[in-house]
Amino acid sequence: MSDKLFIFDTTLRDGEQVPGCQLNTVEKIQVAKALELLGVDVIEAGFPISSPGDFNSVIEISKAVTWPTICALTRAVQKDIDVAADALKFAKHKRIHTGIGTSDSHIKYKFNSNREEIIERAVAAVKYARRYVDDVEFYAEDAGRTDNEYLARVVEAVIKAGATVVNIPDTTGYCLPDEYGAKIKYLMEHVSGIEKAILSTHCHNDLGMATANTMAGVLNGARQVEVTINGIGERAGNTSLEEVAMIIKCHKDIEIETNINTQKIYPTSRMVSSLMNMPVQPNKAIVGRNAFAHSSGIHQDGVLKNVQTYEIIDPHDVGIDDNSIVLTARSGRAALKNRLQVLGVELEQEQLDKVYEAFLKLADKKKDINDDDILVLAGADRTQNHR
Ligand code: KIV
Ligand code: ZN
Repeated sequence: MSDKLFIFDTTLRDGEQVPGCQLNTVEKIQVAKALELLGVDVIEAGFPISSPGDFNSVIEISKAVTWPTICALTRAVQKDIDVAADALKFAKHKRIHTGIGTSDSHIKYKFNSNREEIIERAVAAVKYARRYVDDVEFYAEDAGRTDNEYLARVVEAVIKAGATVVNIPDTTGYCLPDEYGAKIKYLMEHVSGIEKAILSTHCHNDLGMATANTMAGVLNGARQVEVTINGIGERAGNTSLEEVAMIIKCHKDIEIETNINTQKIYPTSRMVSSLMNMPVQPNKAIVGRNAFAHSSGIHQDGVLKNVQTYEIIDPHDVGIDDNSIVLTARSGRAALKNRLQVLGVELEQEQLDKVYEAFLKLADKKKDINDDDILVLAGADRTQNHR
């Protein structure tokens, strides 16, 4: 029996706080509905005390989306929790996500406080949030740089106070995968009462390790991952939903399941990118323009013989129509022949050799060779019916 991994999407909170990515309420509802169709378990819809716009969006998303749990962020402050509870009043399934910084640097510089007082504030916030909702998630901000022994005390105290999920954020994206995995393992083994709650990962990508750290957390016992579409989020971003979902799908040996309908990944990625005006880098795993584009001759030849030679993911599984063979100066005859056949042009070997020679000369001058170029080289033109 495989375990379920809960997908907590924070595109509309950690993602939306990125400069230039702000959405209006109508756009946020559009994204929330797409996330529901994608199959995410929890939508973090906003930080209601932060602005009237965020408050209103949490209300409207709660009305528009019914299957996922709607979550609202707060600091460990009563007023924040009151406002979050009010914003969640129409949600069918609701969660308050409250928390406080637990690393020594947060305790000293942000709160001018001490470790014992931080535990008291954490416990008080969880207890207060439980007066409004049954599902309370606690975040230990900067857990990545919090020492494990103290973190275990915090986690134990908040579970005892009623937290159902405990989030272990690598807020600054500092941890190495082994270190983050060991942190989750330590908590699983040293926190009494850990079976009453779920540990959650929340990894930032400052050193490009967000997905690796998230997976290390999952392999060591975390059963919720906090992710965003296209990996958008503070600074270098958060863990990408699409990367984790496809790792879990490809690696059957991990024996974990998610509720994600992976065929909705690409359309959702396009929607978020265009609404947020945030282009996806071409070589981005899973959803980048080149993620399924084969350009070298050796790879193209292999893929044309059998896609498994160079593809570990079927593009249809993420909602992309097909892989693409991009014709460049490194393409071989097999790719050229295949493209000509797609365009309805069949050539004898001798003709193909000549066209290939002309193609290489052109490809040396031009980065991308398009279909019209190919047809001209082959002496055919698009206006004729070649089939
Ligand atoms: O990165 C972080 O620590 C956060 C918390 C507010 C959950 O986003
Ligand atoms: Zn974050």
